Amino acid sequence: MKRVVLISAAMLLTVAVIAVGVFVARHDWAVEELMAEIHVGPSSPYARINAQATAAAPEWEKLDVVLSPLDEMCRALLAARDATIRDSSVGYVEAVGALRTAITDRDLPAFQTSSQSLRKSCDDCHFQGGVGGELTPR
Ligand code: HEC
Repeated sequence: MKRVVLISAAMLLTVAVIAVGVFVARHDWAVEELMAEIHVGPSSPYARINAQATAAAPEWEKLDVVLSPLDEMCRALLAARDATIRDSSVGYVEAVGALRTAITDRDLPAFQTSSQSLRKSCDDCHFQGGVGGELTPR
């Protein structure tokens, strides 16, 4: 009896170790890290875009600097190990492309539209059961 318990415990432990190993190996750490860096906090690139999108006259110089982190995010999404992440990144990547053009051209209506597209693109991955999970409102 004791033996059966011990063997069962060992098997459970093996399964748990394998499950953690598979998670660690398949998890897109770079995506997760950049997601937080780029989208979270009042001075994050995402917060800056949203703040400037409602301004009557955006401070374009503050927006020039968000383009490079956004590009980095796009590259990480397109290079993600998980095919669902790669396939769901189209909207985000397109929105970033449109933002780049709008900011470079100092085009206010285009900037406002593309910042809205960026905001909407979060839903492509962030919903209950989605690859990014549901986002808690911030
Ligand atoms: C192509 C898919 C995709 C898109 C588009 C996307 N995300 Fe994510 N996001 C993810 C994935 C995958 C994670 C990591 C989830 C996990 O922890 O397993 C993540 C994580 C996050 C996190 C949590 C980071 C942490 O601290 O762990 C935040 C916040 C976030 N995303 C915000 C956003 C916002 C805001 C947008 C839109 C501007 C966005 N995401 C668009 C896939 C996406």
